[in-house]
Amino acid sequence: MGKALMTRKDVPSGGLVHERDKKEMVIRKDLKKEISHVLISSTYLHERIRGLAEEIIRDARRKKAKELQVVIVLKGAAGFANILAQDIFKAGGPPIRFNYIKVSSYGKDVVSSGHVRIAGQLPYVRDKDILIVDDIVDTGLTLAKLKSYLLDERGASSVKICALLDKRARRLPELRRKLRIDYVGFRVPDMFVAGYGIDCAEHLRELPYIVAVNEEYFRKKQAKKKGR
Ligand code: IMP
Repeated sequence: MGKALMTRKDVPSGGLVHERDKKEMVIRKDLKKEISHVLISSTYLHERIRGLAEEIIRDARRKKAKELQVVIVLKGAAGFANILAQDIFKAGGPPIRFNYIKVSSYGKDVVSSGHVRIAGQLPYVRDKDILIVDDIVDTGLTLAKLKSYLLDERGASSVKICALLDKRARRLPELRRKLRIDYVGFRVPDMFVAGYGIDCAEHLRELPYIVAVNEEYFRKKQAKKKGR
């Protein structure tokens, strides 16, 4: 596949499905109610993650970094971070130190609660250059809080951010300029997405591609649960 695909970022609301992945467009019968359509098929995901790995390696070489200190945001970014790390290895990048952190703002709801909680052990942060790896940036609140936590409370010397997906249209106005996402996999439209590690109320993480979820279905399901 050509270089052009590796840097392609903007995803139309109808989706980006590679020729090779046509079969992924056929939604499994038992998931038809939950999924609206495929938004990014697996070939595009893999191509772009390889592109991200190259960008990260290029910057690490420029900084003469001996290793990469990565902070992976659980649970959504775990799978993506593994693939990214393997691609960095395959492309000859520096060794990687894995750190995991749990940041929650959504709980089991499809709308943000606006609260951000941080939990997890981070032994390698002080005076280090950190790369946060996250699944998706929405309002930007979670990453803004995490970044300032690492810099101000944990004494990291610098913090960069890599996110597989960016819903830029949803960014809080005050964070639009302030929160820089250094490495963006894809810019996605303002729709609720799942798959490739990303959940919708703890469903659909295991999908090997990204889908637009049927928000109406999940809303009704949650309303039913709350009414119980
Ligand atoms: P933010 O603080 O509004 O930027 O929210 C970021 C977090 O919200 C992500 O790490 C996800 O856990 C969650 N999130 C935002 N949009 C979606 C989505 O479309 N699907 C699933 N989770 C999402």
